[in-house]
Amino acid sequence: MRVLITGATGLIGTEIVKKCHNNGIAVNYLTTSKSKKENTASYQGFYWNPSKAEIDVNCVKDVDVIIHLVGSSISKRWTEANKQVMISSRLETTALLHETVKNNPNNIKQIISASAIGYYPDSLTNYYTEEEKQISDSFLGKVVQEWEQAVDAFKTLNITVSKIRIGIVFSKKGGAFPQLAKPIKLGVGAAMGSGEQWMSWIHLKDLTNIFLHVLEHKLEGVYNGVAPNPVTNQAVTKAIARQLKMPLILPNIPKFAMKFVLGEMHTLLFESQRVCSKKIEKTGFEFEYVNLELALEELV
Ligand SMILES: NC(=O)c1ccc[n+]([C@@H]2O[C@H](COP(=O)([O-])OP(=O)(O)OC[C@H]3O[C@@H](n4cnc5c(N)ncnc54)[C@H](OP(=O)(O)O)[C@@H]3O)[C@@H](O)[C@H]2O)c1
Repeated sequence: MRVLITGATGLIGTEIVKKCHNNGIAVNYLTTSKSKKENTASYQGFYWNPSKAEIDVNCVKDVDVIIHLVGSSISKRWTEANKQVMISSRLETTALLHETVKNNPNNIKQIISASAIGYYPDSLTNYYTEEEKQISDSFLGKVVQEWEQAVDAFKTLNITVSKIRIGIVFSKKGGAFPQLAKPIKLGVGAAMGSGEQWMSWIHLKDLTNIFLHVLEHKLEGVYNGVAPNPVTNQAVTKAIARQLKMPLILPNIPKFAMKFVLGEMHTLLFESQRVCSKKIEKTGFEFEYVNLELALEELV
């Protein structure tokens, strides 16, 4: 089997590539950076420049499944220019990929795309399943909705569409976890606002396994990519401090202060989504990091 991965060089992509290779799956990948191109039988890089609609169409040759992860980071300051790149890096890439698959020979039967739990509205009380009809009216909610709709276009090519609504990925290698741990290590850690907002986290290893599980079992539709036990911001902060054996001496940081520092992006720290993992578990998926303490033992 051969998969084509977009965003293969990123945090999640790198782990998925490793897992594919461990399972004997060959990988083609698209990169915007010519210096990241490699060319071995099981790891073949292809250049693309989605903003100019440039793509090496050989990338789809002999490919059975696409894993679509590409997207500009949302942890950059939310200026109008950066917001535009956050949208276009998801929509333009999806459209270009669709055109390429439509017009060039390939064996593609499934696309598994990243999505995000930012789809769900901010709430302290709701418990979100994939059936949720309400969509967040925030900037992120809009991005995720348009991204999911763009991916649905692959259905017109008789390709199975699967979407993983990814939670807050915890890894030693990057993403949210090092950012959360850093101030605590320095002795200046504190929860955000009331600290009651839900954080639906997932260990990178479990998320990688979910992508491979959806591929192996040809699962269709939307699946939440979150651990079975979401926790509040206050609980995450306390648990990391406990694991690092650091005291928490500062009061919670008020929302207005973070808004002043981060601008609109501060919503990432204050939005609350309690998201359910039951649907993927019902397909036979077993989490290794079921609760935060287990994950933190590995991460710290
Ligand atoms: N990490 C999380 O906590 C999390 C949570 C929810 C959803 N997600 C979603 O999952 C996907 C993968 O996340 P990640 O953390 O692995 O991301 P990442 O580490 O930032 O990597 C994303 C990859 O996308 C490519 N890319 C970045 N900006 C681009 C642009 N403007 N145009 C085209 N390609 C661009 C880069 O590949 P090249 O340099 O090789 O081109 C990069 O390696 C993203 O779409 C993200 O939104 C992640």
